[in-house]
Amino acid sequence: MLEIKNLHARIVEDGTEILRGLNLSVKAGEVAAIMGPNGSGKSTLSYILAGKDDYEITEGSITYNGQNLLEMEIHERAAAGLFLAFQYPLEIPGVPTMNFLRTAMNSQRKFRGEKELTTPEFIKLVKAEAAKLKIDMNMLKRPLNVGFPGGEKKRAEILQMALLEPKLCILDETDSGLDIDALKVVSEGVNALRSPDRAVVVITHYQRLLDHIIPDSVHVLSKGQIIKSGDKSLALELEKKGYADIIEAAA
Ligand SMILES: Nc1ncnc2c1ncn2[C@@H]1O[C@H](COP(=O)(O)OP(=O)(O)O)[C@@H](O)[C@H]1O
Ligand SMILES: [Mg+2]
Repeated sequence: MLEIKNLHARIVEDGTEILRGLNLSVKAGEVAAIMGPNGSGKSTLSYILAGKDDYEITEGSITYNGQNLLEMEIHERAAAGLFLAFQYPLEIPGVPTMNFLRTAMNSQRKFRGEKELTTPEFIKLVKAEAAKLKIDMNMLKRPLNVGFPGGEKKRAEILQMALLEPKLCILDETDSGLDIDALKVVSEGVNALRSPDRAVVVITHYQRLLDHIIPDSVHVLSKGQIIKSGDKSLALELEKKGYADIIEAAA
């Protein structure tokens, strides 16, 4: 589903190279975890997948379901089923969460040539998904993420994800700022989306989240490269020994 080959990327503004030959392959149905120390380039990778234009790709390729992802516009990526939950979800003043969700769902449907949801259809879907994530409907009348505590922002992101039914979900540090109860709710939300035709990439600094979302593969990112891949036991090893040993062994 996702094939990243020898990806090199630098920051447009100052030319600093952040990704230095990154390779990653994620199959349909797979839950892949990307772990790595702070500053290794995890968020940069998620921004590049989303199409943020702060970065310049100098080498390599990203293929998404056989298409050249780097040539796709941001809205095309979203309509093709790519979804990103950011480490720091944006606040959108003046736009009630409900309106945002409806616009996002209907614009994607429209782009794909599908029928738009009517108000009752939309409300029914939102109510069902919000209940699963223990989100109060009153919160959804408020502007998107504005003044939401960290954990609520993360829940709101998982709600968006559940409603948009993406094919490839990328979650950047979804666990940061979550207490244990919120972590469980969010993990259950992600686990509910696991399916043979959907892939999930979970980016996390800590093993904790991976106790709840058991990954099929674990990849260690250091200095802009995947330096080691393995199964879920690799995450446990990292938790025990820290990143230093693995980084040293790969150097
Ligand atoms: N837009 C940017 N401008 C300046 N520096 C950036 C930018 N994006 C990333 N960086 C730098 O790139 C490195 C990797 O950052 P990041 O991808 O956020 O790492 P991680 O998510 O693994 O902690 C860091 O040193 C960070 O300061
Ligand atoms: Mg980050």
